[in-house]
Formats: sequence, C-alpha cells, structure tokens
Amino acid sequence: MNQDELKAAVGNRAAEHIEPHLTRETIVGVGTGSTANCFIDALAKSKHMFDGAVASSEVTAERLQGHGIPVYDLNDVNEMQFYVDGADEANSNLELIKGGGGALTREKIVASVARKFICIIDETKLVETLGQFPLPVEVIPMARSSVARKLVALGGQPVYRQGFVTDNGNVILDVHRLSITDPCKLEDEINGIPGVVTQGLFARRPADFMLMARASGVIDELWGQSKASD
Ligand code: 5RP
Repeated sequence: MNQDELKAAVGNRAAEHIEPHLTRETIVGVGTGSTANCFIDALAKSKHMFDGAVASSEVTAERLQGHGIPVYDLNDVNEMQFYVDGADEANSNLELIKGGGGALTREKIVASVARKFICIIDETKLVETLGQFPLPVEVIPMARSSVARKLVALGGQPVYRQGFVTDNGNVILDVHRLSITDPCKLEDEINGIPGVVTQGLFARRPADFMLMARASGVIDELWGQSKASD
C-alpha cells in the first residue's frame, strides 16, 4: 500500500474506536494534517454516533463543518472522550514530535483535555530516538531571535519557517540537529524560554494509544503507559 492508502487505513480504524458515551455528551478532539484529514472523512460516516468535535486548527474546523459535523469552542466543552491526531515522529513510548503543519499549540491544548489520545501514523513515522524531524517551536514574533539563540545554546539549529503564521498569529522555528534522548527534560527546557508559546514535543502528555499502519497494510495497536480507557 502507498502512504496515502496507509493514512486512509489508520484514519478509518481510528473512527471505529470512537464509541458513543451512553450517559454524557461524546465530544471528539480532532488534530490537523493529512492523516487527521483521513480520520475526519471516516468520522463523517458515523457522525450520528457522537455530539460534535473540537478542532485543533482553522483548517480542521472547516473540514469538519464541510461534513456537517458540529464544531464546538473548547471553552464550551466540559469533557472530551477522545483526541485523534497524526504525528511527524513517534517513539515506542508514544512520545511524539508534532507541528509539521504548524498547529502544535492548539493540538497540545486539545490533547491535554482529552481522556484518551489516539495517535495515527504510518510506520515511516516510528523512530528509535526523536529528533530526526526538526522540532517545531511556536514563538511570539518579537522573540524570534532571542529564542533562536537559546535554542542554539541547547544544541539545536533553528530555522525560521518563512512566510508562515500560526492560527494564533505567531511564527515557527524548526529546530534541526537535536538528538532527543530525554524528551520530557527538553520539553521543559524549551517551554521555559521566554517568548516560546509551546513546542512540538508531546512527552509530558504522550499518546495513550497508537494505530500504526505498516506497508503491508497491517495495523499495529500500541499502548502507552497510561492505558487510558474509553
Ligand atoms: C500538524 C501536525 C501533524 O499531525 C503532523 O504534521 C503529521 O501530519 P501528516 O499526517 O500530514 O503527516 O502535527 O501540526
């Protein structure tokens, strides 16, 4: 199967994991990117099974609404059962690098609210050590250079993502040449730099469950430490 077919396969499989809550509203948090888009398209077929979605980006909100799925403001949602999203890299602890599409901050916020974070990837995204994919860091524009200098001091090589503005009005530095052996420590260090809004390491809040499509078409199911339940 080619990569597009694998993305569609994990998107479909993730939609099968969205089960309605019998006593409360069922709200699904939805990520951003081509794999998340496959999930949205699959979810549309069972939209009668849940109450609505919270989007991690403007583009995701538009796609959900295009399918007639109600999109809620996160402030109006008390509880979220699921968050489903792709990743740029994942390790076997289900720690992730995200933000290739620039939606990392809202993705991180929505993921933090969900009881169960289901990550959907194809096997090209699985790595032993995170950092081959440049780590996206969302930065307040006036702090671009000062943050870049601190990232160099941490051993990285930040590259300004030219011409890109996030949904929050900020800029992105993509940090190359990091070998991330302690993802939680680096996440804390970068979050502590003044001017950083957030960065794309999902280690403090990793995925709970991962669906990974292999080139053969087989989909592996991997559990993280939390064993979050539906
Ligand atoms: C967007 C993201 C995406 O999840 C990540 O970039 C993976 O995208 P794709 O599914 O298109 O490979 O973090 O900010």
